[in-house]
Amino acid sequence: MSIGFEEFVDQASIILDLNLWGYKIKRVQRRTESVMRRYGIRTYEECLELLKNDADFRLSYLDHFTINTSEFFRNPKNFDYLRDNIIDNLFRENEKVKIWSAPCSNGSEPYSIAILLTEKGYKESDYQILASDIDVNILESARKGVYNNTAVQNIPYELLNKYFEISDDNYKRYRLKEEIKRKVTFEQKDLITEPFEKDWNLIICRNFFIYLTTDIKESLTHKFSESLVPGGYLFLGNTEFIFHPEKYNLEKVYSSFYRKKQ
Ligand SMILES: C[S@@+](CC[C@H](N)C(=O)[O-])C[C@H]1O[C@@H](n2cnc3c(N)ncnc32)[C@H](O)[C@@H]1O
Repeated sequence: MSIGFEEFVDQASIILDLNLWGYKIKRVQRRTESVMRRYGIRTYEECLELLKNDADFRLSYLDHFTINTSEFFRNPKNFDYLRDNIIDNLFRENEKVKIWSAPCSNGSEPYSIAILLTEKGYKESDYQILASDIDVNILESARKGVYNNTAVQNIPYELLNKYFEISDDNYKRYRLKEEIKRKVTFEQKDLITEPFEKDWNLIICRNFFIYLTTDIKESLTHKFSESLVPGGYLFLGNTEFIFHPEKYNLEKVYSSFYRKKQ
């Protein structure tokens, strides 16, 4: 007898060691069915068999499932706000500023922060930038730091010139210079199931909540708030909101920015 989608989700979550129920389930179903079509798979059992026994298929399923879209200075107005209203305060108030990009995708988000701090003249020894994502492939590409036109489209020309080299292959690709790359540390982490480090001054969690169920969003907002120092900031994506920030000991300071109460 063939199994239904719910049974598939239960079993796939165990095989992948990833709680698929934490994501908006209709989207999980659409994505799963799209991978199945692409591979000519007709039943959920067949899909589970491949997830169990074929490492390449497993990676391909995860690739399809996690949306890695990202770009430097995504929604530039928010990065302007960060640069003009938050960063200097953080450095004034803290001996060492701890910044966490979670999830970081291809690295353009944490590298944007590294560029911004370099431009402001802050010393590498005065801050730490950690960047986490669940997807090993995207982390590998983040560590390489090579980008296409779309990813760099919001970078002002003089900064593009200063911090990137045009890569030597035939495509127009931009290779981030070592000077910026070395300022970001990458790690693999499942944000839904793993514990968080504490004492962050700024946590950037953008374009992730949109994929999650309300329950998981709430539990992550609690976890992020607990991981911030009092007075620390949580920076969300443009279409993401916390409806009752006081429930999490946060207050809204600007569109997409929340601050943990002192
Ligand atoms: C749309 S990207 C967001 C990247 C970046 N923050 C931005 O706004 O440009 C979403 C990322 O979430 C990652 N992701 C999905 N589930 C995750 C999980 N459980 N733990 C950590 N990262 C996850 C994906 O691999 C993907 O890179």
